[in-house]
Amino acid sequence: MSVRETWATRIGFILAATGSAVGLGNIWRFPFLTAESGGAAFLVAYLLLVIGVGLPLMLAEFVVGRRTKRNVVGAFEELGRSNWKFIGGIGALAGFVILSYYSVVGGWVIQYIIASVTGAYTSDPAAYFGTVASGTNAVAFDALFMAVVAGIVALGVRDGLERAATFMVPSVAVLLVVLAGYGATLGGAEEGYAFYLSPDPTTLLTDAIALLPDAAGQAFFTLSLGMGVMITYGSYLGEDRSLLNDSLLILVVDTFIALLAGLAIFPFLFAGDVDPGTGGPGTVFVALGTAFGQLPAGQLVGTVFYLALFLAALTSAFSILEVIVAYVTETFDVDRKPATLGIAGVMFLVGIPTALDINVLTAYDALANQVLLIGGGLMLAIFVGWVFADSAVDEFTKGMDGGDTLSTIWIWLLRVPIVLLLAYVLYKGILTTSEAITAVL
Ligand code: PHE
Repeated sequence: MSVRETWATRIGFILAATGSAVGLGNIWRFPFLTAESGGAAFLVAYLLLVIGVGLPLMLAEFVVGRRTKRNVVGAFEELGRSNWKFIGGIGALAGFVILSYYSVVGGWVIQYIIASVTGAYTSDPAAYFGTVASGTNAVAFDALFMAVVAGIVALGVRDGLERAATFMVPSVAVLLVVLAGYGATLGGAEEGYAFYLSPDPTTLLTDAIALLPDAAGQAFFTLSLGMGVMITYGSYLGEDRSLLNDSLLILVVDTFIALLAGLAIFPFLFAGDVDPGTGGPGTVFVALGTAFGQLPAGQLVGTVFYLALFLAALTSAFSILEVIVAYVTETFDVDRKPATLGIAGVMFLVGIPTALDINVLTAYDALANQVLLIGGGLMLAIFVGWVFADSAVDEFTKGMDGGDTLSTIWIWLLRVPIVLLLAYVLYKGILTTSEAITAVL
């Protein structure tokens, strides 16, 4: 077994975890989900869930990772709880499902960077998306994206993940600030902001419960929770400082980036006179492609936008691959490079159906976000709250002054409200997912 690496610096760890969180979920999914689901009302539900559910679960993952210094599956063995290893199994499965289609969307993004430079989508954005999304091009660029991800993971924790995140995450933030600043100067800004965030009290009151599953799914997906990314990243921590501070920071930056993405996107759409549409995997590409065709300096703005999306997607994608690579290298005594190559190859194969049919991609997305991540999170909440609570509290309070009250609140949040809420969300998710799967069959 190879020697286990640790992060070189604390900030490197924070940036890598933030990079995992900030991804397609923030820029591609969040703005549209918010706009479709009642704007500010959805945002309120989402923020409550991020704080009330996301933060406690992120801490649960970090605690398990730092305590055991093992991979998603090995962590449970290390704790002498081998019958809970299945949580790691769900995580690994979720990783295969998510990265296999995430990488397809990553491939679309690469194609859109090139097309922004050449102006390929300006004349007929919808038709262009059709040529990008499924078929030979989609498969080829999926392979390219996966190869870049594997190249980074193969280099290891410090030289690969940490180094890449350290320059990519700040770059994404800067590029989005520039884009949102440009958006603010456009004629459509006010209309865009109003569409994005205008409070709609009727939705908030009547649909509050109906919004929960969507908001919970998004909170999990955007924070990379439920599949052991944070267990794995926490396991590379060499020192014991307050996990609460780090988690809060990751959460704030992730939410800030998601909001910022919306502040950029909606002014573009309204200034380009484009109907923001109804969401779905293709809409961001078609609608924004149309807007970039109309805007002053649109091709340049488009290039910058898709570049930011590409970097954000990469730092998330490699965190997913790392979960499986850590598991395989530590369990089967294989070296990192061959393991990375093999796993990425299998993920690529698993993803091919999603690169050939967008409905399959939607079904994978539903299965991963609404069932596997939520199910994994639910099991982890039960495990940390009920089985592993004493050691978990001990680990939680390390590096903190007087964390007693906080740790009690944390454990009780995990034990009851989170378990109940996630059980409900999982039930809803299973219904939605079976619909998506039936639609494909
Ligand atoms: N958080 C990532 C995003 O928002 C997606 C992701 C999910 C990454 C689960 C890792 C694990 O795009």
